[in-house]
Amino acid sequence: MSDLVAQLNELHKSALDALARATTTEETKAWHADFLGRKGRLTDLLGGLGQLPKEQRPLVGKSANEIKVALEAALQERQEAIAQDEMSRALSAEGVDVTLPGRRPIVGKYHPTTTTMREIVDIFNLMGFQVYDAPEVETDENNFELLNFPPDHPAREMQDTFFTTSPDVILRTHTSPGQIRAMREFAPQPIRVILPGKCYRNEDVTARHEMMFYQVEGLAIGRNVAFSDLKGVLLNFFNQMYGEGRKIRFRKSYFPFTEPSVEVDVDCILCGAQGCRMCKYSGWLEILGAGMVHPVVLKNGGYDPAEFSGFAFGMGIERQAILKRGIDDIRYFYDNDVRFLERVA
Ligand code: DAH
Repeated sequence: MSDLVAQLNELHKSALDALARATTTEETKAWHADFLGRKGRLTDLLGGLGQLPKEQRPLVGKSANEIKVALEAALQERQEAIAQDEMSRALSAEGVDVTLPGRRPIVGKYHPTTTTMREIVDIFNLMGFQVYDAPEVETDENNFELLNFPPDHPAREMQDTFFTTSPDVILRTHTSPGQIRAMREFAPQPIRVILPGKCYRNEDVTARHEMMFYQVEGLAIGRNVAFSDLKGVLLNFFNQMYGEGRKIRFRKSYFPFTEPSVEVDVDCILCGAQGCRMCKYSGWLEILGAGMVHPVVLKNGGYDPAEFSGFAFGMGIERQAILKRGIDDIRYFYDNDVRFLERVA
């Protein structure tokens, strides 16, 4: 018996030695077959158990079993260590260079319409104009009738309108209906507001026209508001927006909701009034429409025209962005091509 136990102990020791020398999963598998497998050395040794006297067998068997359990535990431990090792070797073999600089995420920025709108709003804010929000979906009444465009008035032709399936509900064609809303909210208080926002017209889309575009409307109403106030406010706006020393020019015009009505030009900032494609070789850029609020419109807004007067103006925001940011086609604005958005300041 002592002989078999000694051999078992010997086997235990040499198995542990051999296991310590295994450095790959393959080698641990071979080791398992060699020592613990069905035809392995332990099985082999236990073949001699039958020769032992009966009473010794359980003791030797127990000892053999303990060795088997211990060797299996040792194997598992070794295999885990090897797996860890193989994993870290595989990772470094793939050559991940942790010192490479990361990829910069793309940082978004404001759309040129938003930037331009904010510039315009900031300038008027400093002159005491507050932003007044008005809806894009309007009634025919606010968009036209109360602004002194009766049904079938030829001035409606200039603003080819999108109608909705609800009678008399339309997409506003300009920001001017906001004038009616502001007046009706504030009358008889004085008003100084600007109204930025989207407008819609059924235009043929070209380099200069879009179906959807932005305008900023301005409105000032009070007891002594004069045409010279309009001039001063606009001159200040142009100097802030396009640089000091601007010259402006008023041309007579017609809008049903102002009387008198004007169109206002600024000396061409692109060519220094020398004449270029942008100013059509005139030295002047057309910027906005303006005028003194028509007495009928004042009345519709709730103000007595004998006591109150006011001025109004309206301009396209994309037009200002085009001039200031050197854009040559309005269609770029809402195409959602990031190359345009990245290129334009
Ligand atoms: N609403 C006009 C348009 O879209 C622009 C305009 C002209 C607005 C004169 C005004 C104004 O407030 O006084 O063509």
